[in-house]
Amino acid sequence: MIEVREVHKSFGALAVLKGVNLNVEKGEVVSVIGSSGSGKSTLLTCINGLEQINSGSILVDGVEVHARTTDLNKLRRKIGIVFQQFNAFPHLTALENVMLAPRKVLGMTKAEAEAIAVTQLSHVGLADKLSIYPGKLSGGQQQRMAIARALAMSPAYMLFDEVTSALDPQLVGEVLDTLKLLANDGTTMICVTHEMSFARDVSDRVAFFHQGVLAEIAPPDQFFNAPQHPRTKEFLSNVR
Ligand SMILES: Nc1ncnc2c1ncn2[C@@H]1O[C@H](COP(=O)(O)OP(=O)(O)OP(=O)(O)O)[C@@H](O)[C@H]1O
Ligand SMILES: [Mg+2]
Repeated sequence: MIEVREVHKSFGALAVLKGVNLNVEKGEVVSVIGSSGSGKSTLLTCINGLEQINSGSILVDGVEVHARTTDLNKLRRKIGIVFQQFNAFPHLTALENVMLAPRKVLGMTKAEAEAIAVTQLSHVGLADKLSIYPGKLSGGQQQRMAIARALAMSPAYMLFDEVTSALDPQLVGEVLDTLKLLANDGTTMICVTHEMSFARDVSDRVAFFHQGVLAEIAPPDQFFNAPQHPRTKEFLSNVR
């Protein structure tokens, strides 16, 4: 499981996370919503050790992410992260993009990596795009390739940071469907999202981030129908 305990994080004088607590159980899907600049992306980058924290602790399966003795490369193999801005290697096909990390990081043979890449690209509905270069994929297809690339590492946890926000509305659905599929497969996921219908329909719990703290977290029914925190109510009244 992921345990975030009283985490504080500043960029210079700017306090971004101000005592965040969050436990995510195995198999759970937690959606994180909140206004721009509230610290949602920062939380995800702290969880997989891309960013340092000032105090508190984050544990993944009992291993403290920011302990000096922690092997971050090993830990990151457990935690897939997909960002809004997807950086594909333009000179590699979809298949080669997905094969890269299993080969380089996990040391798989070409045949092993290829088998996994084909499986994962099929999983996200791109079985017919294996030999296509990223520049010739639509935005939604590129984003699904990014998800396949993360999945190829067989991570125990997946972190998604607004993976649909750069997409045209007609492409959002196909990426959300992919996320739903993963959720139904039992993947443990933290999804920062603007998609309220996704948060409502797919998550086990919804968390509301406000000015660097997790102001409220509850199952979707309770969260959307009976929010407790005044800021949650205000936020929801603006998005509905
Ligand atoms: N590397 C950085 N250096 C300095 N400041 C940063 C850095 N990354 C984020 N910040 C600042 O931290 C605050 C929180 O940023 P963060 O990206 O976590 O917000 P967010 O909730 O993800 O917002 P959005 O919904 O717009 O993506 C912002 O004020 C941002 O300017
Ligand atoms: Mg963000």
